[in-house]
Amino acid sequence: MTLPKLNEMAANGEKIAMLTCYDATFAKLMAYAGVDILLVGDSLGMVLQGAENTLNVSMHHMTYHTKSVAAGAPNSLIIADMPVGSYEHDNEAAYKNAEWLIRSGAQMVKFEGGGDRIETARYLIERGIPVCAHLGFTPQSVNQLGGYKIQGKTEESAHQIMQDAIDMSNAGVSMMVLEMVPATLAKQITDSIKALTIGIGAGVDCDGQVLVIQDVLGIYNGVASKHPSEFKAPRFVKNFLSDTNSVQQAVSNYVKAVKDKTFPAPEHSY
Ligand code: KIV
Ligand code: NA
Repeated sequence: MTLPKLNEMAANGEKIAMLTCYDATFAKLMAYAGVDILLVGDSLGMVLQGAENTLNVSMHHMTYHTKSVAAGAPNSLIIADMPVGSYEHDNEAAYKNAEWLIRSGAQMVKFEGGGDRIETARYLIERGIPVCAHLGFTPQSVNQLGGYKIQGKTEESAHQIMQDAIDMSNAGVSMMVLEMVPATLAKQITDSIKALTIGIGAGVDCDGQVLVIQDVLGIYNGVASKHPSEFKAPRFVKNFLSDTNSVQQAVSNYVKAVKDKTFPAPEHSY
């Protein structure tokens, strides 16, 4: 998989299927299931390490898992998240950390936020590192945002997200994740910018979709101190394993549902 191929798919109206992936066996399984992009997400702090949020993930964690994923799926397009603290302070440090992720097997890096991060994106892109932005709900800012909440609901906040999306696209980002924003806003952004949009809780009109693999398989990924029965999965999550007894088939069914636009349904959107 390559970026030009993804742009061609989007131009032809074919939806892009992305999943998070943290290890070699899942990478192989996802590659054979036709997942277009593997995201080594810093969600690994929660789903692999059992933390309450992504704020304790380090560059060492990210490069370790990126290497594992790349070993399992050498022909897949791999995006690696830049963890908290690895890109916000100065652009030279951001470049060095991004370059470390690329050397570990990623083809693109992703980091959260608009505003000042637009210059960071430009700095990396000018130096040859493809960038994926992440707007809307940004988990690394969970403490500022006051919890896991939909973003872009007021006119002012919707306008801000749209402006960040336009500025990021003009800075040259290849794609952007839109997390937990109204479906109508995600559609307006998708129609307005050149960069590809990948939604999670952002409606069916993005160029593609992403989910955390544990959510696709119905595996409890809430905090360890709570019993799974107390856990309410977010609205945008769908368990694709409940209709089959095969993990491989569940992942294939996710890809198929993204491609035929049956996922996300209105019930998964805001
Ligand atoms: O870390 C992650 O898994 C992510 C996706 C949910 C977009 O950033
Ligand atoms: Na992430």
